[in-house]
Amino acid sequence: MTDNTARLTELAKRRGFFFQSSEAYGGVAGFYVYGPEGATLKENVQDAWRDRFVRREGHMEIESPTVMPEPVFEASGHLDGFDDMILECPECGTSHRADHLVEDNTDIEEAESIPIPEVEEIIAEAELVCPTCGTDLAGEPVDDFNLMFGTNIGPGSSSPGYLRPETAQGIFVEFPRLKEYARGQLPFGVAQVGPAYRNEISPRKGLIRLREFAQAELEHFIDPETDEPPLAEVEDVEVTLYSAAEQDADGGAPQTMTVGEAVAEDVITSDWVAYYLGVAKDWYARIGVDMDRFRYRQHNEGELAHYAADCWDAEADVTAPGAEPDWVEITGFAYRGDYDLSKHGEYADEDFTIFKQYDDPITVERATVDPDMSYLGPEFGGDAAAVADALEALAERDRSAFEGDEVSVDVDGEELTVPVEKTGFAVEETTESGEHITPHVVEPSFGVDRIVYTVLAHSYREEDLGEASEDASGEAASEADDEDEERTVLSLPPEVAPKTVAVFPLMDKDGLGERAREVADELRAAGFEVAYDASGSIGRRYRRQDEVGTPFCVTVDYDTLEDDSVTVRDRDSTAQARVGLDELATRLRTLRAGETSVSDL
Ligand code: GLY
Repeated sequence: MTDNTARLTELAKRRGFFFQSSEAYGGVAGFYVYGPEGATLKENVQDAWRDRFVRREGHMEIESPTVMPEPVFEASGHLDGFDDMILECPECGTSHRADHLVEDNTDIEEAESIPIPEVEEIIAEAELVCPTCGTDLAGEPVDDFNLMFGTNIGPGSSSPGYLRPETAQGIFVEFPRLKEYARGQLPFGVAQVGPAYRNEISPRKGLIRLREFAQAELEHFIDPETDEPPLAEVEDVEVTLYSAAEQDADGGAPQTMTVGEAVAEDVITSDWVAYYLGVAKDWYARIGVDMDRFRYRQHNEGELAHYAADCWDAEADVTAPGAEPDWVEITGFAYRGDYDLSKHGEYADEDFTIFKQYDDPITVERATVDPDMSYLGPEFGGDAAAVADALEALAERDRSAFEGDEVSVDVDGEELTVPVEKTGFAVEETTESGEHITPHVVEPSFGVDRIVYTVLAHSYREEDLGEASEDASGEAASEADDEDEERTVLSLPPEVAPKTVAVFPLMDKDGLGERAREVADELRAAGFEVAYDASGSIGRRYRRQDEVGTPFCVTVDYDTLEDDSVTVRDRDSTAQARVGLDELATRLRTLRAGETSVSDL
């Protein structure tokens, strides 16, 4: 943990952003509480996500249960394939993620995709020891550990269920009904924002690896043959891309180019993924992610999830500027193909396809059979029905098999021969108005907690007030004289800051407190998130608001009682301006929207 990270974690706890849960009972790793400031920050990030990825795109949002029955995860592949590598120390019994042991103690950066026997060899060759007690781990078995939390639905164990490991399954499972809401027309997108659960072997790094976490996922259902994204809207967006090829190449490095160039040069092969990388880049900047500490990295083949054909991660470096980078995945952009809907179509009794109408009906030739059962029955006995089914499948697959006098089919490994005249084989012309297709899925999947943490890490700074007030008015420079010379600031964009404005009375006497409370109430009624603070010097109160990222402070003073004006102070520049109370709400609205600045007032 860098000093900066430690100070941010301390601030987060002290000022109510986030802290470990159930500390009264010793704490539970991987479960965190968002305090009053953090809960609002998270909600604001989610609202900004909904605004961009649901409302602006014209998609739907649903809310489905977090507990789902076992067959869902048999179909989705999570029951069999959603594992991490576990290694238990023979001495102290601590469980470790074997791939993390390798990454933390060797030059290998992505050990997750290395097969288990090789990981065991690396552990032995590198003479790795238990980080908890120092015992030699050579020769200790590495096993698969399924990450889903299991439960029983109702009494007894006859109906096992699992806490969903991704919100996505709650969307896929409801596809037969959701497609009705989309009137059976592709493309359409369905979003879900809510908790998901993974029983991490060793949760670490606070909000970065949680056992209960929030996802904001969009499942965009498309016809891969005909649907195209509005790529022109993002083709000029500049992105930093670390492709799988560059990661594999000697001296390979991330490359910066426009989305249009990345598509033209096949660095990103799916136009849909490219579209969302462009949209998301602008969105991250909007909510306060520092683009100098941000990149997109493509998964290499061994790293891809069981459902993904291609995947790019948005990654943020969450260390302080200048420190050794610590790249953290904050979003996955996966091309899931038809994997999920095909699987649920196979396992469930519903139709997970879409009927795609042709522009004009087409005439097709169909090979059919109408076997003579009075012949097949006596000839094949109990196998007669299986022979009829095999003939039908063969006619669809290979009509040339019916060209001779006899045709052979395989029934349970035995070759059985039927005279063609007894099969009722015919080729008929039929008119078809469309076909059933299984849509493909493009999935931007945002890890809300990691994004919240990134926004905090990227907005955190400690500064000398002399520097802060360089561009500000003389009045602002006096902030430094007032109290501390240094301040800690969260320069959160006003859209996500927990409070938009703090209201202070200069002193809590002579009617200033009452007037300031009225101003705070009026601003709340006008829709602002407002903090009220009357304790300590004005300088101290500014410092308190800087620390939680409140972009604007309003001070009610003796002049207010005379002329109904207040001082508005800007968090980042510390500039101040005098504003009439009759226009305060309007001014704050334009300030919040970034349409003006305090220095311009
Ligand atoms: N739905 C993608 C994920 O949970 O990683």
